[in-house]
Amino acid sequence: MAASDPAADSVDPSRIPCPGAGHPAFHLRDGELWCEDCRVADLAAEFGTPLYVYSGAAIDSRVGAVRAAFGADARICYAVKANSNLTVLRRMHAHGIGFDVVSGGELERLRAAGVPTDGVVFAGVGKEPWEIDAAVAAGILFFNVESEHELPLLAAAGRRAGVQVPVALRLNPDVDAGTHAYISTGKKDNKFGIALDRAGEVVAAIVRDPNLRLAGYHVHLGSQLQEVSPYVAALDKVEAFVDAAPEHGAGVTHYDLGGGFGIGYGKGAELDVTAVAAALLPRLRARGWQPVIEPGRYLVGDAGALVTAVLGTKQQGGSRFLLVDAAMNDLLRPALYAAEHPIVPVAARPGEPAVVDVVGPVCETGDFLARRRSLPPCARGDLLAVLGAGAYGASMASNYNTRRRPAEVLVDGRAARLVRRRETFAQLFANEVEL
Ligand SMILES: Cc1ncc(COP(=O)(O)O)c(C=O)c1O
Repeated sequence: MAASDPAADSVDPSRIPCPGAGHPAFHLRDGELWCEDCRVADLAAEFGTPLYVYSGAAIDSRVGAVRAAFGADARICYAVKANSNLTVLRRMHAHGIGFDVVSGGELERLRAAGVPTDGVVFAGVGKEPWEIDAAVAAGILFFNVESEHELPLLAAAGRRAGVQVPVALRLNPDVDAGTHAYISTGKKDNKFGIALDRAGEVVAAIVRDPNLRLAGYHVHLGSQLQEVSPYVAALDKVEAFVDAAPEHGAGVTHYDLGGGFGIGYGKGAELDVTAVAAALLPRLRARGWQPVIEPGRYLVGDAGALVTAVLGTKQQGGSRFLLVDAAMNDLLRPALYAAEHPIVPVAARPGEPAVVDVVGPVCETGDFLARRRSLPPCARGDLLAVLGAGAYGASMASNYNTRRRPAEVLVDGRAARLVRRRETFAQLFANEVEL
């Protein structure tokens, strides 16, 4: 599928940029929010709220941007956890890209989506034996090994299957990615990866084992990185490690620099992926290492919005609350990371903006979508769109408070396709059989 971006290419003067939208697929026409050529209010009326709305053109253009930056030789492995909807996975496959998974469940999703698994990399600090067996049987590209106890499990799985298991060692380079503590993964106190002072012994163990093959090195520093420098600092450390002993570099074919490419969330610029590529690619080429990248948020974050209806307003103490029908179970990021998503009215009313807390119906004080946010006047029945919600939105949703997870719709031009039905209560109770 060719990268296309009709929304971005458009010169239609009736399309006005939407403040906070990271991609022009979400834009305003006559003061109302549209996704590509669909009126968001029409989508809410047809599919109900809360509703995730995704733009196919936005996904396509982000894949195109990453490919343009890193070139055809780089392997793009989409991080399934960001948005694991089967239709999204198929769309990624249509672009010819592979996948980064962190569980046997995500591998099952790929199977359910009917996409190949030979371009998969599998990370995770605690892989279970059944997950390892499944991934060996699936013939994945390599395992990203991040705990030493995994090695004998991998070797045994390889022996049983009669294959040599390709492993990339996930190094913990102790690099500060300058991101939220909960999404930093490359510092030495994080649980991820193998510390450089242990890595030599782990490489030796891999090299000794006839059932294992050292395919490369992996570093994923965290999520929502805004600067090029952590990627450079990590490669500096990996190269120093590789140069410390011939055994560390022998046979290495891949360098997996992870994901973490940040987006703007209405506040700043996204990570300059072209600058990351320019800084790293010549060095990788010089060593003959194929680059692997694992973007998640960058490909889908700005391609999605969570559309929610206002249930009412409430003034209490010094706070003014806007009560909406989406909650922390639908979009956890504000509660979990104090993440700030842009929120816009789907059709703004005239009047003075007010500072409000946008909160959901869940019985937790931490159930908010935004705090102290200036929004135009809103009344019951109005619609709001939480932008930048295509990544770590639906995939982190839960049934807390026995709420059904939202429906998801994928827009392509004028067409809107339901790609996930809203759950039914019967589905929620289905496993609670009387034993
Ligand atoms: C190993 C690994 N790779 C890639 C990603 C994707 O990160 P992002 O969505 O920030 O690109 C993650 C996210 O947690 C990850 O753990």
